Amino acid sequence: MKHYLSVNDIESLPDWVDEAITLKKDPYQFEDMGKRKTICLLFFNNSLRTRLSTQKAAMNLGMEVMIMNFGNEGWALEYGDGTVMDQGTSEHIKEAAQVVSQYSDIVAIRAFAGLVDKEKDEAEEVINGFAKYATIPVVNMESSVGHPLQALADAITLKENETKKKPKVVLSWAPHPKALPHAVANSFVQMMKMQDADFVITHPEGYELNPELTEGCQIEYDQDKALEDADFVYVKNWSCYSDYGKVLNKDKDWTITKEKLGNAKFMHCLPVRRNMIVEDAVLDSEQSLVVEQAKNRVFSAQIVLKKILENK
Ligand code: CP
Repeated sequence: MKHYLSVNDIESLPDWVDEAITLKKDPYQFEDMGKRKTICLLFFNNSLRTRLSTQKAAMNLGMEVMIMNFGNEGWALEYGDGTVMDQGTSEHIKEAAQVVSQYSDIVAIRAFAGLVDKEKDEAEEVINGFAKYATIPVVNMESSVGHPLQALADAITLKENETKKKPKVVLSWAPHPKALPHAVANSFVQMMKMQDADFVITHPEGYELNPELTEGCQIEYDQDKALEDADFVYVKNWSCYSDYGKVLNKDKDWTITKEKLGNAKFMHCLPVRRNMIVEDAVLDSEQSLVVEQAKNRVFSAQIVLKKILENK
């Protein structure tokens, strides 16, 4: 594997999950692998988990870590070919990506969707620009359309908590005051399609995700029906995809309560808005796996970095 840009770059999900669970038992067993190697983490958007877990994963492998809040501190990048740069952008992605490649062995990037121009977001100009012009491997720390490190951590968490061979896993939309991207839900769907599970997606009408990604998935508009007999309920807000980036609904009937959850385990990528997405009683109960999911972000990143280092 050269780059880790999407869940589709996982060569074998069951093998990677098993390997991550083994790594978790002895995180320093490959601490010499990254000696004298450097990873550069570039953030165009905020983060808590991704920043610290990816840094920790790299440190567990013996790597040096450089972090830059590119969105606030870097030059505004130009992505267009042949642009006369007489407006707001100061540096072209072609030079920036090649320069970063001189300073590090892997570059990891976070660059969210703008949620204004669907075509532009789907072109993934930041992460694809780096993948095109960098001479080193590129890791996606959440791009416009995907969050593959989160999805791999979620697969690890599912495996560690499953009590039956084919669990029922429900991805439920929940309300949020702001327009949020589709990246987490997209990668979760892609990852679930690689699993042996009874997988159901539930959301209000109008909140259909990209149909190319959900093709073959069961979609149930009645949340109560979808949640019946669920083993895991993965909750996430996303904005409208068809009327791109719009918030159509803030209906708190979709908020996850203890009653709705039943005996299922609750999952969310965090950060989560309490009593909007999910009520306190769920997050404060033993049914919540959110902190375990965050812990597994270290091991999803560590397995990805290890695969890249092994290939270098
Ligand atoms: N889940 C996740 O990516 O968290 P951060 O946005 O805090 O990195």
